[in-house]
Amino acid sequence: MIIVVANSKGGVGKSTLAVHLAAWLAERGHAVTLADCDAQQSSSEWAREAAPGVRVVRLADADEILDQLPALSDEAEFVVADGPGSNTETSRALLLRADLAVVPCKASMLEARALAQGTNVLRQAQDIRGGPPRAVIVLSMVGKTYRLTRDMRDAARGLHLPLAHTPLTLRQVYADAPGQGAVVWHMAARGRDAAAEVEALFAELLPELPARRRPADACR
Ligand SMILES: Nc1ncnc2c1ncn2[C@@H]1O[C@H](COP(=O)(O)OP(=O)(O)OP(=O)(O)O)[C@@H](O)[C@H]1O
Ligand SMILES: [Mg+2]
Repeated sequence: MIIVVANSKGGVGKSTLAVHLAAWLAERGHAVTLADCDAQQSSSEWAREAAPGVRVVRLADADEILDQLPALSDEAEFVVADGPGSNTETSRALLLRADLAVVPCKASMLEARALAQGTNVLRQAQDIRGGPPRAVIVLSMVGKTYRLTRDMRDAARGLHLPLAHTPLTLRQVYADAPGQGAVVWHMAARGRDAAAEVEALFAELLPELPARRRPADACR
């Protein structure tokens, strides 16, 4: 399964979500490859430290993505691809190969208004492929006092895109995680609430996932 974390807007939480999802799947015993498709290469460096069980590859451009993703997908159970913040051709290539597109969006009125533009490439890919990839919008960096979730819900509904029930809230522990080479559930007590949140989100995004495997199963 190829899961692409994509939004043509920068700084919305793509790499944060991608590294946590790859690490979470690997810790559940799955064979996971993280495909870092962003020229900044921040997620691959972070994942090497935070998730040693994850294979990390870098795909430099749209051609490499189109050519190499199918083989990478054959070699692993899950490929989690971290998309770039601005390169449309890279996003397009990813969405033409994805089974599932996870689209993190900051929760604000401005972002709700920009959602149509930000998901344009996704709609083109779904049109070309006659349906796929399945896509889910995830609200990210939601402040405790945020009351505009309804605007984002309305915007998503207008575009016929489902919105994940579980948002990722704005927490310092997410911002500190890359510097510590860790994922939030390995950051002791201060990561506890964030850990519960990402667990709930990932279970929601992948409802068909079997219960946690025993380590012995993972080695077969
Ligand atoms: N839920 C959160 N709470 C607090 N800070 C966050 C959260 N999610 C991400 N951040 C921080 O916000 C910044 C942007 O996040 P991230 O790098 O994941 O976004 P991105 O979409 O991958 O950005 P780019 O488009 O530049 O690749 C980072 O400094 C990250 O640590
Ligand atoms: Mg990024």
